[in-house]
Amino acid sequence: MSDKPWSGRFSEPTDAFVEAFTASIDFDQRLAQQDIAGSKAHARMLGRQGILSDDDVSAILSGLDAVAAEIEAGKFPYSVALEDIHMNIEARLTERIGDAGKRLHTGRSRNDQVATDLRLFVREQIDAILGELARFREGLANAAEHEADTVMPGFTHLQAAQPVTLGHHLLAYFEMADRDAERLRDARKRVNKLPLGSGALAGTTYAIDREWVAAELGFDGVTENSLDAVSDRDFAVETVLACALVMAHLSRLSEELVLWASPQFGFVTLPEAFCTGSSIMPQKMNPDVPELVRGKTGRVNGGLIQLLTLIKAQPLAYNKDMQEDKEPLFDALDTVRGSLKVMADMVPGITFHREAMRTAAAAGFATATDLADYLVRQGVPFREAHEVVGGAVQAAIDRGCDLADLDLVTLQGFSGAIGEDVYDVLTLDGSVAARDHVGGTAPDQVRGAARRARKRLGGGS
Ligand code: ARG
Repeated sequence: MSDKPWSGRFSEPTDAFVEAFTASIDFDQRLAQQDIAGSKAHARMLGRQGILSDDDVSAILSGLDAVAAEIEAGKFPYSVALEDIHMNIEARLTERIGDAGKRLHTGRSRNDQVATDLRLFVREQIDAILGELARFREGLANAAEHEADTVMPGFTHLQAAQPVTLGHHLLAYFEMADRDAERLRDARKRVNKLPLGSGALAGTTYAIDREWVAAELGFDGVTENSLDAVSDRDFAVETVLACALVMAHLSRLSEELVLWASPQFGFVTLPEAFCTGSSIMPQKMNPDVPELVRGKTGRVNGGLIQLLTLIKAQPLAYNKDMQEDKEPLFDALDTVRGSLKVMADMVPGITFHREAMRTAAAAGFATATDLADYLVRQGVPFREAHEVVGGAVQAAIDRGCDLADLDLVTLQGFSGAIGEDVYDVLTLDGSVAARDHVGGTAPDQVRGAARRARKRLGGGS
């Protein structure tokens, strides 16, 4: 028991099950590199402030490098008895360099230490996720430009509603992903504050230089209140919330791809490298990737609720509850990063079946609104026009044809305001081309929107 750094006031050993129950080393070893970076900055600051001797500082720095190399090589002897990554590294350092290792923890607590490590980790993950998000958006903008003229049925209630261009549909996902990136960049601002120097809860009696450490570790500044700094996990909640919205958006796209890849829709073929077969039904090519992404959304939503529940009603300041922040946070970050990577890789490989989309758009009376708008332009009040078109749709249903297949005499039977030029608006291309304003589905608008989308990407992810 003497190997525990806090064993001084104890006379009985820790219960064996309690030791395993309270340990976090199995999962917080992922923070090793951040812990070492934080410790090196702390040690150098202590040296600069004359709190540690130059000899001690250089022994600590090279000792920590050696420990980092051991970890990298997979040779680090992790110990459950040493509870967490912080005490494991410190004990190993002391084993290697002796007394200087015992001086590293001067002016610091594991409470401000773990908060620092976690913020460094989350910052790195946000940057990696932003990179994947940028690739994903780029793929969407490229595909949108290619498919600016492709007409498909736009849906509401999953019923054919009005024709849209596929490029327009794809750019809707670009917008979602763009907001996701903005949300993550915004969360990052609050992640990127240095809590080190807050000590256990009240600060420290040493003449430390927090600003220097912050600059050294790439933080934008220091946290303002020590009690808040050791007990704040809002930054983790915010980041996971942003991740949950990423997953919500990916799950919507996934759902559409699963539907569209079915023979009943036949709108897309997913790249074979992203599909799997069935062990019993030889004809199958299953859209496993979007299905799994859709399914993984629940992990991130679960993590968000875990974290919100974790911080609820905890008294100030640090409580051991906080140790439970890591697994949901790590899992959410891993899940969103992996899901974005696989979707970004898959999007450029999707084959869009333009004819099938056009046929589906033509079959669903999708230009009914255009006919109503046509009548309004002839002076018919909209509500009356709506009624007239309803009658025409019913006639087309009875004859098993589309609106554009009804002859002029039949159409004029519903309204005298209808003229020969009505067929211009009843075609799919006429319908989409007419929605020619910013935010509309007209092919020219989509090309402009795709160009602007790419420009927004160029201005930083
Ligand atoms: N393993 C702990 C955690 O993850 C580190 C901080 C422990 N501090 C303490 N006073 N027990 O939160």
